[in-house]
Amino acid sequence: MNRVNRVNRVNRVNRRSVAVIGGGIIGLSCADELLRAGHEVVVCDPAPATGATHAAAGMLAPAGEAWFGEEALLRLGLDSLARWPEYAANLEQRSGTDVDLRSTGTLLVGMDRDDLIDVRRSCALLEESGVRVEPLDREALWRREPGLSSRVAGGVWLPHDRHVDPRRVAVALLAVLGDRVVRQRATPVEGGVLLEDGRVLAADVVVLATGATGLASVRAVRGEVIRVRTPDAPTHMVRARVHGQPVYVVPRSDGEVVIGATEEEHPGHSAPTVGGMARLLDAARQLLPGLDTAEFIDAVARDRPGTPDNGPLLGVLEGTGAQRPIVAGGHYRGGVLLAPVTAAVVRALVEESPPPDVAAPFHPDRFERTTPCL
Ligand code: GLY
Repeated sequence: MNRVNRVNRVNRVNRRSVAVIGGGIIGLSCADELLRAGHEVVVCDPAPATGATHAAAGMLAPAGEAWFGEEALLRLGLDSLARWPEYAANLEQRSGTDVDLRSTGTLLVGMDRDDLIDVRRSCALLEESGVRVEPLDREALWRREPGLSSRVAGGVWLPHDRHVDPRRVAVALLAVLGDRVVRQRATPVEGGVLLEDGRVLAADVVVLATGATGLASVRAVRGEVIRVRTPDAPTHMVRARVHGQPVYVVPRSDGEVVIGATEEEHPGHSAPTVGGMARLLDAARQLLPGLDTAEFIDAVARDRPGTPDNGPLLGVLEGTGAQRPIVAGGHYRGGVLLAPVTAAVVRALVEESPPPDVAAPFHPDRFERTTPCL
């Protein structure tokens, strides 16, 4: 939308006051979009951008992460991916922070022949959905990514996937939102939100963007990631199966490399586990032997907000009193990817205009238990 159209749009809609509960990448992106559209916003979170956003690798990879039965999620992801270049450029320009958006695609790699069968199954799904897939034999794979092990069986290139540094995106969003971010817990009440210090902030609309907590239909799926630094970083995002073990490796432009990610559904671990780290490092070193001499930076574990069908919850929550909060939650593996489309959906709902069609399958009322439990 050009500047003149945007100004006209702001003038046509009523200015609303919106309180967003949750300051991960989803809550912050929604708030920023609303602010840009001329609404009054506040984001409440005691520790913004320290949950799943802090651990996210930043894969903007709807193709690389597509799976059977998740075709509507693939369409949502492709829509959001298409929004990322403009979203990132605009955010960088306003915040002065480089968010390290890279457009080198995903290399989907199978270490042995069984792993490659798995890769080919995902490719059949992608081709059916009209996503471009470029098969690569072993020679072509090494030409594209010379650091790959000589033992890899083969793979494909998904040229349209991208990646970004979510920690930098969060820094940029926090900078543009400034003191609109209130570092306190909040709960929705009639006419606004109640802060933990007892104050009530009045709001016309409340948005619940509480990640892995606060919604009954969302469950925590723990993910562990490792960050290392190496002069031999791959130039592409690599997603692989290594003798059955899934692993991905995502390079940043400063030599940092993120290795992820486990998926743990049992309770009780709030820190990275020895087993999780060992499996990830072992798979990553077999895939890219140059990582053997990389310097360890840190390992973090955070909860992803998972839903029964792995899709997000995007819509107005019916039947929870007069206020009917908007939900932007349950983004599971795709919080970073889905931030721009989620922000567009939330803005449309606040302005009572139709949200993008791709969001229709993700109404929160598709599950019986999407009730707030804040
Ligand atoms: N999207 C990457 C992950 O969830 O680990």
